[in-house]
Amino acid sequence: MKKSLLIIGFACFNLMVSAQEKSTLQLNKSNVKQVIKALTLEEKVKLVVGMGMYIPGAPAGLLPPNDPEDDKIAPKIPGTSGRTHAVTRLGIPSITLSDGPAGIHFLDLTNAKPKYATAIPIGTLLASTWDTIMTQKAGEILGREAKEYGIDIVLTPAFNIQRNPLGGRNFEYYSEDPFLSGTIAAAVTNGIQKQGIGVSVKHFAANNTETNRMKLNTIVSERALREIYLKGFEIAVKKSNPWTLMTSYNLINGIYTSESKDLITNILRKEWGFRGLVMSDWFAGQNAALSLSAGNDLQMPGRPDQTQTIFNAAKKGSLSMTDLDASVERVLNLIVKSITFNKYNYSNKPDLTANAAVSRTIASEGMVLLKNDKALPLPKSSTIALFGNASYDIIAGGTGSGDVVKKYTISLDEGLVNSGFKLQQNTKSIYEDYVKYENTKRPVPSFMDVFNPFTIKEMPVKTEMITAAVAKSDVAIITISRLSGESKDRKVADDFNLTDTEKQTLQTLSESFHAQNKKVIVVINAGGVIEMESWSHLTDAILMAWQPGMEGGNAIADILSGKVNPSGKLTATFPIAYLDVPSSQNFPGKQFPLKEGEILDPVMPTYPAEITYDDDIYVGYRYFNTKKVKTAYEFGFGLSYTQFAYGDIKLNSTDFKDKITATISIKNTGKVAGKEVVQLYLTAPTGKLKKPAEELKGFAKTKLLQPNESQTISFTLTQSELASYDPTLSSWIAEAGKYTIKIGASSLDINQTKEFGLKKDRVLK
Ligand code: BGC
Repeated sequence: MKKSLLIIGFACFNLMVSAQEKSTLQLNKSNVKQVIKALTLEEKVKLVVGMGMYIPGAPAGLLPPNDPEDDKIAPKIPGTSGRTHAVTRLGIPSITLSDGPAGIHFLDLTNAKPKYATAIPIGTLLASTWDTIMTQKAGEILGREAKEYGIDIVLTPAFNIQRNPLGGRNFEYYSEDPFLSGTIAAAVTNGIQKQGIGVSVKHFAANNTETNRMKLNTIVSERALREIYLKGFEIAVKKSNPWTLMTSYNLINGIYTSESKDLITNILRKEWGFRGLVMSDWFAGQNAALSLSAGNDLQMPGRPDQTQTIFNAAKKGSLSMTDLDASVERVLNLIVKSITFNKYNYSNKPDLTANAAVSRTIASEGMVLLKNDKALPLPKSSTIALFGNASYDIIAGGTGSGDVVKKYTISLDEGLVNSGFKLQQNTKSIYEDYVKYENTKRPVPSFMDVFNPFTIKEMPVKTEMITAAVAKSDVAIITISRLSGESKDRKVADDFNLTDTEKQTLQTLSESFHAQNKKVIVVINAGGVIEMESWSHLTDAILMAWQPGMEGGNAIADILSGKVNPSGKLTATFPIAYLDVPSSQNFPGKQFPLKEGEILDPVMPTYPAEITYDDDIYVGYRYFNTKKVKTAYEFGFGLSYTQFAYGDIKLNSTDFKDKITATISIKNTGKVAGKEVVQLYLTAPTGKLKKPAEELKGFAKTKLLQPNESQTISFTLTQSELASYDPTLSSWIAEAGKYTIKIGASSLDINQTKEFGLKKDRVLK
């Protein structure tokens, strides 16, 4: 989508590939090279530029087809994100790509006959499970649904680093930590690809800001790039062999990522051994021929000017035939793996009921209990006074390409009733009327809404309404909600910080309910971090429920009722104040005026801009822990309804040779069954390179441990986990000295430590 109007002026270039007869040579898995020889230049160019984007209901001319002939070919499902071209004479079919991270996404503004998909929880919630089995299951849902709709590639996982809490797409992403991000991305990828459907790991790389996203130049040191912004991709590539990868919109140190040979060919392919296809983000980059030479095989969704540029460059020789053929080969290698090529007989009927049930389980596993002063779990007989718009109109996920068309959403009111609780009726009906009325103001869906989502303003609550509710209920629950999405970053006022209305309601709830010895519970229905320090004392319990997908209300009720013992942990630091965040000084970067002749895209206004990552490798807890800055809730934090005891760490050696194994036993010492997320941090010696106080190098979630039950967990560290990137050597180096393994329940709640030594520096190429 998105670059839209800018492309209207391009000359429409038709390659005039005349209808040709079916050749005796037909593509199969073993004749790709032969087929390439049989392709004309025009056909090769077709294969490396997508068919354009078709959004039913989008204003005419906004997204012109790459080739007018393409208009005649109906998509499998209206509103998929893109397709590749077919070359039918050689038996090459067109394959279909669609988003995305929280469910299969179709953008059909006519809403004629919507195809529904399961809206699973957002990426941040998935990662907050710290559970690779659970996140693989999320991937399986995406893979199964894509397969039954005939979609070949799902454009996920998205796992850029959550560098700053205001990042508009943080909800799609996993964490501020690359090890956690890459490991979860690999699990999601494995889940999808197990179904014979490809993924596109995205957005490669250093795409951590939405403001001016198509022209933002990220200035970042080589060390930070390697250790923070590329590391997750390296892990995902090595652990899960993704079929495709998507480059990002931004530039890194002056070069568009989609045009960077260093990034795509040298690092991704040569160093990491990536064997898949690289595609651009939608309408990204400047010069399609440069992009191909850099190793970015497929221009998506495909524009007429890109076809023209590549064709001309190939004719002139500025794009080598070897580079073009290499990209064509990768496109064909992808096609032969696809369900379309392999003629999978898709049903158009994924099992949405079964998938919704799995989605509910995943959702409850990733919610994070932040505070609990004997308020939860709720007694079964409770009558609840339920406040907050989102309690009655939950935000299932974020907006943009990560949005999902779902058949229903379960809000918290329904979830609580389904769990057997009673709701205080007066509060419920006032909110329901308000939400219903405000929803009538919702604009008719249009293309512009994709980037300007509508949210209902929080209802101001009169003190009398609260006073009346106290008398007729046992407990108050209030949901605080936030919505964000693609192409815009969040703000500090009234978003990261609470609004005056929210503060006022919380204050009155706290005074009124506490005066009667009744508890006040806050549920946060948001895609990212918000300020909590100034108001958490007003509450008895806080549950970070994230944006939990279509079964959200049921999943929240599962936690509040104690049916599920919370086991999620934070994947990003919750600072006391926004200004405590190291990147707050230079987010979202500097904006420059348009260059002469440049046009401002009215759909997604983007100015040339620049952002400097002067927090370097000190992102998130790497900063807070090293500089000992207090947080509201630290990275890795999360409570349970039970307690766990950590045994001693046993190391298999005190000297590091090629690897080292740490073993620890975890025991449930409380009264109810529960799961613990066990985290391993490493403190490396400071030699030539400065090191953060600690870095996550391993994690595991226990099985459901019954009271008094134990489980032994092992972690193995290899040399790469010990190493930091030394730009002067262009190498990873594990420096000699003393290393400390720290195992605990969060990045600050360390229960056990053990040291080992490395005798000599190890340089890893
Ligand atoms: C987003 C991608 C998405 C693509 C296709 C772009 O605007 O950045 O994440 O996959 O659109 O919808």
